[in-house]
Amino acid sequence: MKIITVMNQKGGVGKTTLALSLAARWHLAGHSVSIVDADPQQASVFWKRQQAEDSALAGIDVYSVRLPAEIRGSKNLNSDYVIVDTPGTDKMIVRSAVNVSDALLIPVQPSSLDVQASAPTVQAALATGKPVAYLVNRFVSHSQLGNDMVKLLERTSVTVLRRVMGQYQAFPRSIGVGETPSTMFSGGAACRNIESVGQVVDTWLEGEHEKN
Ligand SMILES: Nc1ncnc2c1ncn2[C@@H]1O[C@H](COP(=O)(O)OP(=O)(O)OP(=O)(O)O)[C@@H](O)[C@H]1O
Ligand SMILES: [Mg+2]
Repeated sequence: MKIITVMNQKGGVGKTTLALSLAARWHLAGHSVSIVDADPQQASVFWKRQQAEDSALAGIDVYSVRLPAEIRGSKNLNSDYVIVDTPGTDKMIVRSAVNVSDALLIPVQPSSLDVQASAPTVQAALATGKPVAYLVNRFVSHSQLGNDMVKLLERTSVTVLRRVMGQYQAFPRSIGVGETPSTMFSGGAACRNIESVGQVVDTWLEGEHEKN
């Protein structure tokens, strides 16, 4: 079992979008997947509520966790992958999630304000000694800003995953109805994007596992 916390104290960077999209991909590949929603906004819980009973993603369980102490229960979930969707603000619950996790994923938008706002999250993540990686989200293809930001991130001491999530309407459209691009827009650009991002996440997780 792998527990992966998706974190960034900056709001709206795509934590929930990434958590759900990765969950869908792993589920569709035949793995058992649980999501632990530790955000009081309960966006992942909302996603599950919108889902049709016969959805291809119906097998993904979403657990609501409100108290830092409850996060430890993630270790008892009988899933191949547990993804913890965290709030930006509640430091205690994020710390608890980090403590039980095998790897920490930090989505960040390609903007210097966002990179700057993620610095405390990165410091806290690195201090644990656990595998930490940045994943760039809402990247606009061929944009100078996007490329400059990826270069800026690569100069930090954090791993930057070699694939970026693009800006696609398919993410909000599918997530709003309890799906993800992998199911609602199968074969489309966002679906292919999350597939290649997911492959890079898999390679990163395997590499980190082998190091330990
Ligand atoms: N790659 C993308 N393409 C298009 N829209 C996106 C993408 N990623 C995120 N969004 C949109 O950006 C908004 C914020 O995304 P999301 O809710 O996943 O961020 P978050 O970090 O979980 O936010 P919060 O800090 O409030 O929990 C949502 O409306 C989402 O649909
Ligand atoms: Mg969220």
